Amino acid sequence: MTESTTIRWEQDETGIVTLVLDDPAQSANTMNQAFRDSVKAVADRAEAEKDSIRGIIYTSAKKTFFAGGDLKDMIRIGPGNAQDAFDAGMSVKRALRRIETLGKPVVAAINGAALGGGYEIALAAHHRIALDAPGSRIGLPEVTLGLLPAGGGVTRTVRLMGLTDALLKVLLQGTQYTPRRALENGLVHEVATTPEEMLEKARAFIDAHPESHQPWDVKGYRIPGGTPSNPKFAANLPAFPANLKKQLAGAPMPAPRNIMAAAVEGSQVDFETAQTIEARYFTELVTGQISKNMIQAFFFDLQAVNSGASRPAGAEERPVRKVAVLGAGMMGAGIAYSCARAGIDVVLKDVSAEAAARGKAYSEKLLAKALSRGRTTEAKRDELLARITPTADPADLAGCDVVIEAVFEDTALKHKVFQEIQHIVEPDALLCSNTSTLPITVLAEGVERQADFIGLHFFSPVDKMPLVEIIKGGRTGDEALARAFDLVRRIKKTPIVVNDSRGFFTSRVIGHFINEGVAMVGEGIDPASVEQAAAQAGYPAKVLSLMDELTLTLPRRIREETRRAVEEAGGTWATHPADAVVDRMVDEFGRPGRSGGAGFYDYGEDGRRGLLWPGLREHFTEPGREIPFEDMRERMLFSEALDSVRCLEENVLTTVADANIGSVMGIGFPPWTGGVLQYINGYEGGLPGFVARARQLAERYGDRFLPPPLLVEKAEKGETFHD
Ligand code: NAI
Repeated sequence: MTESTTIRWEQDETGIVTLVLDDPAQSANTMNQAFRDSVKAVADRAEAEKDSIRGIIYTSAKKTFFAGGDLKDMIRIGPGNAQDAFDAGMSVKRALRRIETLGKPVVAAINGAALGGGYEIALAAHHRIALDAPGSRIGLPEVTLGLLPAGGGVTRTVRLMGLTDALLKVLLQGTQYTPRRALENGLVHEVATTPEEMLEKARAFIDAHPESHQPWDVKGYRIPGGTPSNPKFAANLPAFPANLKKQLAGAPMPAPRNIMAAAVEGSQVDFETAQTIEARYFTELVTGQISKNMIQAFFFDLQAVNSGASRPAGAEERPVRKVAVLGAGMMGAGIAYSCARAGIDVVLKDVSAEAAARGKAYSEKLLAKALSRGRTTEAKRDELLARITPTADPADLAGCDVVIEAVFEDTALKHKVFQEIQHIVEPDALLCSNTSTLPITVLAEGVERQADFIGLHFFSPVDKMPLVEIIKGGRTGDEALARAFDLVRRIKKTPIVVNDSRGFFTSRVIGHFINEGVAMVGEGIDPASVEQAAAQAGYPAKVLSLMDELTLTLPRRIREETRRAVEEAGGTWATHPADAVVDRMVDEFGRPGRSGGAGFYDYGEDGRRGLLWPGLREHFTEPGREIPFEDMRERMLFSEALDSVRCLEENVLTTVADANIGSVMGIGFPPWTGGVLQYINGYEGGLPGFVARARQLAERYGDRFLPPPLLVEKAEKGETFHD
């Protein structure tokens, strides 16, 4: 019999066996080989000693209940070891199943986070009790890494809550619930407030149910809500959110599709067959490139970025007491809310008391919504609102140790507002600008302490967008960078760090995506196909509609400013084929974008987007003009990836992780790629394949697709983009 090394068997005198998950070799329990051996050993012993056992409790000696699959292992699984991965998964499933069907009550005492494999262990128990520990989360987030829960997670959630709820609440969006919300949504049966209470409840369940079974092992059981016969059933279900329908329909996201298929097919067969189906669909995902891209980005890169790979080592952490937000418009209002939510006092300043109050009203609106959905309490709302002081009086900024400026995008105005307050705030206050395009080095010239000046580029809407791009100006000091980094983490956002350059990293790179879409319209391609190509590439926003949102006059202004700067520096300015389209749209047709009431799309009186402007067909489209659809998709993806390589060459970017995370979390680069540089790593044929394709696109569509020297060099050396 194999030994259990990671699960401790503790049996009390009444016959209750507590299986304590406690891997001695790691700080968290993971589904590694030692665990696989242990769970099998435990199942063997439970069967052998069945008569002396009254019930079984799963719990853990670690802070988290169980951390799930070992991603370092998973990223290495390829077609060559697919069978081993399949067999390993099946062996855990069989062992958990043997304990589940022993005929004894099995309880999961979930003492901390149970995500992925952790919740799957809990699902194999008849009764689940979660400890309401701070930060604890429960759910099956595998989909966010391009995978599916293959430890019985699909099979059991479908049988527990029915297909629709299992798919929508647990499997397809990978929602991570707090213990209380897990209870409300049927993921657990009870919540306990202390570990003692949790174990007491576990014992009480065993006492009350000497013979316990899963509902699906009871004769006559039917899956709640019935079962459809078609895996594409989401398309016919009004309850399915549009984004999921889109993922299931077109974008290259195999995980949602495999989850759907495993759930629907598995719902029509017996439990054991369903588990095999689940494993088969998992193996397909884990051996494919997309899960590797997503694990690289959303696990390894995200961890690197958040843990401070780009934060100057050794810089001391300093507390933030009070933040001054200058400008209470769309961005300022959102920044004030995000700071207050993190427990920081905010003084929100605008030109008039009314404008400042409107900025605060934005927080009131968000909180009213949160309250109506049960996501906050009246007390918490009041506490948060009390932290925001709206004002028009600069004197109220006294005592602020951080300033975040978000007034109009105008260098002279930004200089003016900093001059007005630099002697009122604390003498060593950190000075940040939320500019989206203006060079930080130039903005810093407006203040006396340039070393304390830095760019802090938030994304709209601030309360929802997880990323902040920190921009080091030419004279920004390390301490300012560390303070900015710590502030971003404090407000629970993800910081990437870049060096100053026009448009930094994010605004510059997204510009290439938009230009490419607009250029295609100029080439006579049907604009509806351009939009469809963006959607099928996996972009969250269609390209022409995004241009309308940003307004067509903005790139024109930036283009003119950049052209002037390049020419002043003695360089040559290359026009982009998109420029002519934008100029005609604005000058000839008077269609500057959504805020002007008309752009590539028509807009209703209420600002709602209507259909693509029929004039596009008349003035731009050449009937019968077509290019391969694959070229349309890849022109957008390549334009962003290639410029990101140039950002690395120019030292605008200093890490690969910043590029990957910034592109997906900030500017909507499709998540399945794992980000702009991981997209290149994972492209068919690797870097040489990417270089060859870039050259082909350059031949067909212009020199802007020529691979930059750094890319060619890496391809020739057989390297990839990794930190
Ligand atoms: P907005 O037009 O909504 O707000 C600007 C606010 O600044 C207005 O409320 C205005 O009254 C106020 N203001 C003007 N002069 C002022 C002064 N002297 N003192 C105090 N307040 C003053 O603009 P929005 O969209 O919030 O943008 C603000 C900044 O954030 C700009 O630099 C913009 O480029 C940048 N940004 C905008 C993003 C967006 O998606 N809108 C994204 C990221 C950055």
